[in-house]
Amino acid sequence: MKHPSETGRRNPFSLKTTVALSIILFVTAVLTTAFNVKNDDPESPTKSALINPDSIESVKAFAQVYKVLMSPRCMNCHPSGDVPLQGDDSHEHTMLPKRGTNGKGLYAMKCANCHQPTNTPGLHTPPGNPEWHLPPASMKMVFQGRTPHQLAKQLVDKKQNGNKDMKKLIEHADDGLVLAGWNPGEGRTLPPMSHAEFKKAWLTWIQKGAFAPKS
Ligand code: HEC
Ligand code: HEC
Repeated sequence: MKHPSETGRRNPFSLKTTVALSIILFVTAVLTTAFNVKNDDPESPTKSALINPDSIESVKAFAQVYKVLMSPRCMNCHPSGDVPLQGDDSHEHTMLPKRGTNGKGLYAMKCANCHQPTNTPGLHTPPGNPEWHLPPASMKMVFQGRTPHQLAKQLVDKKQNGNKDMKKLIEHADDGLVLAGWNPGEGRTLPPMSHAEFKKAWLTWIQKGAFAPKS
């Protein structure tokens, strides 16, 4: 019998192909290992190299995080409706500017018309930030009305948090709009703890496994 290669047909298991396939498999294996050391699934924190699960410490830290998230400086931009909130009593924003698709306002009522890149001096003037806007209509990231259990689950759900993995969530502690909470403009109260304390609680909550409180 003739060797298949001598018949002119291409043999799928020729030495060259086998070597090429082996190299591809090897590279794939190496890449998979290299990029999978960190596990982003909060349901199975034990698999992660970065995360050292401790449900009690995690839930305790989240109690601190929750106090900040539900403070007016944060919740006013994370409303359950499509109108932002104002003031320490979180009333609906006067003149009812709407979220719009991208969170930046609708028609003539764009957030940036009034909210400048920096705070406007004086009482009852618009706080400023170059990025001042609500989360988009497709991902509203509602804090208002959420229980600690609901909010903890929502924050780690990529379908609800803007596709953030644990690394991106950690980085979000230093996001410009989060920092804006500690530079709120004249006459507004600060969140209930310093930014450093908030960041510490945020990191502890996540690194101990991002557990959700029971209720
Ligand atoms: C000016 C409005 C505004 C303020 C004020 C604001 N946020 Fe946000 N926040 C946003 C927007 C817009 C997004 C979505 C952008 C993104 O995902 O990067 C967001 C996203 C988030 C997220 C990630 C999404 C999620 O649900 O996991 C967290 C966490 C968050 N904000 C926390 C805070 C905290 C804490 C404060 C107060 C210290 C705060 N925000 C104040 C507008 C605001
Ligand atoms: C017509 C001007 C105007 C427009 C448009 C506008 N705002 Fe405001 N906004 C203000 C003023 C003025 C204040 C301060 C009110 C006060 O302190 O009494 C304010 C306050 C706020 C606050 C409260 C901040 C805090 O820490 O309590 C939030 C949140 C807010 N605006 C979000 C938005 C968002 C989001 C948009 C766009 C969807 C928007 N605003 C559009 C004028 C405007």
